[in-house]
Amino acid sequence: MDTKGYGIVGVGYFGAELGRIVNALEGARVVAVLDPENGEKIALEYNCELETDLDTICARKDIDAIIVATPNYLHKEPVLAAARHKKNVFCEKPIALSYADCDQMVNTCKNNSVMFMAGHVMNFFNGVRKAKELINKGAIGEILCCHSARNGWEPPQNYISWKKFKDKSGGHLYHHIHELDCIQFLMGPASAVTMIGGNVAHKEKEFSDEDDMMFLSIEFENNTYAICEYGSAFRWAEHYLLINGTKGAIKIDMKDVSMTVKDALGRESKYLVHETKEEDDDRTRIYHDLDIDGAIMYGMPGKKPPLWLHGIMKKEMTYFNSLLHGATIDNEFKPLLTGDAARASIATADAATLSLKENRKVSVAEVMK
Ligand SMILES: NC(=O)c1ccc[n+]([C@@H]2O[C@H](COP(=O)([O-])OP(=O)(O)OC[C@H]3O[C@@H](n4cnc5c(N)ncnc54)[C@H](O)[C@@H]3O)[C@@H](O)[C@H]2O)c1
Repeated sequence: MDTKGYGIVGVGYFGAELGRIVNALEGARVVAVLDPENGEKIALEYNCELETDLDTICARKDIDAIIVATPNYLHKEPVLAAARHKKNVFCEKPIALSYADCDQMVNTCKNNSVMFMAGHVMNFFNGVRKAKELINKGAIGEILCCHSARNGWEPPQNYISWKKFKDKSGGHLYHHIHELDCIQFLMGPASAVTMIGGNVAHKEKEFSDEDDMMFLSIEFENNTYAICEYGSAFRWAEHYLLINGTKGAIKIDMKDVSMTVKDALGRESKYLVHETKEEDDDRTRIYHDLDIDGAIMYGMPGKKPPLWLHGIMKKEMTYFNSLLHGATIDNEFKPLLTGDAARASIATADAATLSLKENRKVSVAEVMK
């Protein structure tokens, strides 16, 4: 097997670990990194080169793919540069903070015939893959509605991360786009959204400007619906995705980690959410041990992702690397590999944002103009 060269733009908490994972894969090697703050340290660790200019790293002949793991509001420039230099792209979520930016990124990658994979980790959860398989087999009938909750209570932290500011992370809704994306992965594109909420309990100066309580009601074609909750103003933390069908239901619980499938007779079967029981149990432990609820926690440079997340990152990188080596994209992952799925989830988030701002129901098509 030949070795594919990777460049990483942004090697903080997540980018650095993605690089460690790439370096441990067969046929993959990080050859250069770019990061004004943490690049030097990580280049030393990887024993790779440090670049300081975006066009230079993207132009390198020994690089086949660029991983973008900068803060959310800084994804666009490196993705466009990588595409212009005909490099395949893996970009962390959310790929951008507006439909217009996503559209430009997706189109530029398409026009340059490069892959544009979004780091939407839930697609690779064992539980989500199993749910998809069961749904495709008709185990719960037609999906009627999904519920998701990703919430908890945020006490003051030592410092306010960029992850808490609307203009940099997009706030909870964009930063934790996972559930919105996963629901559309299962139900197809949303048609209209209504969102209520705001910043109800984190207005003091030790917090940022993000909304801490959001309730979305989402409409799909054929009288199907979803309800999503997000935020850091919930003293009773929850993190789950519940899928209700005509013949049964599936609950993927990410707090007390387990997946339950209920059939039409009310019989329950259990599955793993992650790869191993150890990963599921470790995530449950983390959710109950932290000073900040697990669903809304965030990492920082120098920290290591937990076991379950590391497992998913490895799956993502293994899949991306296999495609670089010529593997065929699975049909269900095609929209994930073009950025189309990521753009659709941002369209829904934009519609929700407009709905809250203007106090009305917003059709997703309206924000896609
Ligand atoms: N999929 C997931 O579950 C998951 C989990 C955590 C983070 N993420 C995503 O990964 C991305 C990075 O998050 P993080 O937790 O690593 O944040 P971080 O703050 O730890 O790291 C960001 C890094 O980007 C660097 N950087 C800033 N501006 C840059 C620029 N112009 N060029 C190059 N590097 C620059 C910073 O110096 C820092 O090292 C975000 O998009 C985040 O949403 C995804």
